[in-house]
Amino acid sequence: MKRIAVLTGGGDVPGLNAAIRAVVRRATERGLDVLGVRDGWRGLLVDDTVPLARAEISGILPRGGTILGTSRTNPLAAEDGPRRARATMAARGIDGLVAIGGDDTLGAAARLSREGLAVVGVPKTMDNDVHGTDACIGFDTAVNTVMEALDRLHPTAEAHHRVIVVEVMGRDAGWVATVGGLAGGADVVLVPEVPYEVEEVCARLERRRAAGRAFAIVVVAEGAAPRGAAGQVVQEAEVDEYGHARLGGIGAALAREIQRRTEWETRAVALGHVQRGGAPTAFDRVLATRLGAAAVDELAAGRAGVMVALRGAAIVAVPLDEVQRGPRTVDPELYALTRTFW
Ligand code: F6P
Repeated sequence: MKRIAVLTGGGDVPGLNAAIRAVVRRATERGLDVLGVRDGWRGLLVDDTVPLARAEISGILPRGGTILGTSRTNPLAAEDGPRRARATMAARGIDGLVAIGGDDTLGAAARLSREGLAVVGVPKTMDNDVHGTDACIGFDTAVNTVMEALDRLHPTAEAHHRVIVVEVMGRDAGWVATVGGLAGGADVVLVPEVPYEVEEVCARLERRRAAGRAFAIVVVAEGAAPRGAAGQVVQEAEVDEYGHARLGGIGAALAREIQRRTEWETRAVALGHVQRGGAPTAFDRVLATRLGAAAVDELAAGRAGVMVALRGAAIVAVPLDEVQRGPRTVDPELYALTRTFW
């Protein structure tokens, strides 16, 4: 093995640059060349790559975003995608690929791996919903951002005697809402996995008000929906190449409903992409560094078709196929803990 490549696909998260840096540093240590693939799978389909050496990765450890760019290009939705990906690998002399992504990017990696591409996956997504790993790069930073937002919103909610509904990301899994809500002391947490009853939410808020607490914070994941709803609230119905519509709006809808039913002044705040910005936390920097280095080790040892993962305190390699089990939903016990504070 002489040359490897690295790409970042799907939604960006803080920690991607830390992972890229670790890939390059470990590869250099092992005497391997590295090419960066621009904008996720798009770059591999159209042969858009850039050499990555020490100079290109200098100073990127604390930077959010990704120096390689990203996209939601699905190589399996593109005409002749697998063949074009293999052609770029052959033309550039790439012996192995590190694909850093969430379940879409890694699901595509699993399929391409079965078609002969030497690929190792690295799990990142602020949603934290990739099967086979206990944590994904970007989740810890997102949760800290949610916690800080709740710390900032509590005093203004209290000063104005209001309810504030905070919408956080999380399409199919309520990890960010649950962990962010626990860390920030939310009064109610609503997740995609458990349809909610608006009557119950309002009853909870009324009990709190009757107990003399004239303010409240409700955290709702963008993918949450009331029981019996026709579907999730979408901002944009058009789907991306992986079949996802753009979610958003449940927070505002719920705030209106709470105010109508309880006559309690309510505001909605959608944290949106703020949750994916800023510098990575120490946890995400170290996780990204460990996973990036481990991915190079797996390729160098000839073990493609795996994803490097955090299991307990250890970094391990699991079959890439694990990611195709669909989204890893929130731990029910952890979610149940939020109800202690309802
Ligand atoms: O990458 C996952 C995610 O953060 C989801 O939680 C959210 O639904 C989506 O990305 C938003 O994507 P975009 O960046 O395309 O707006």
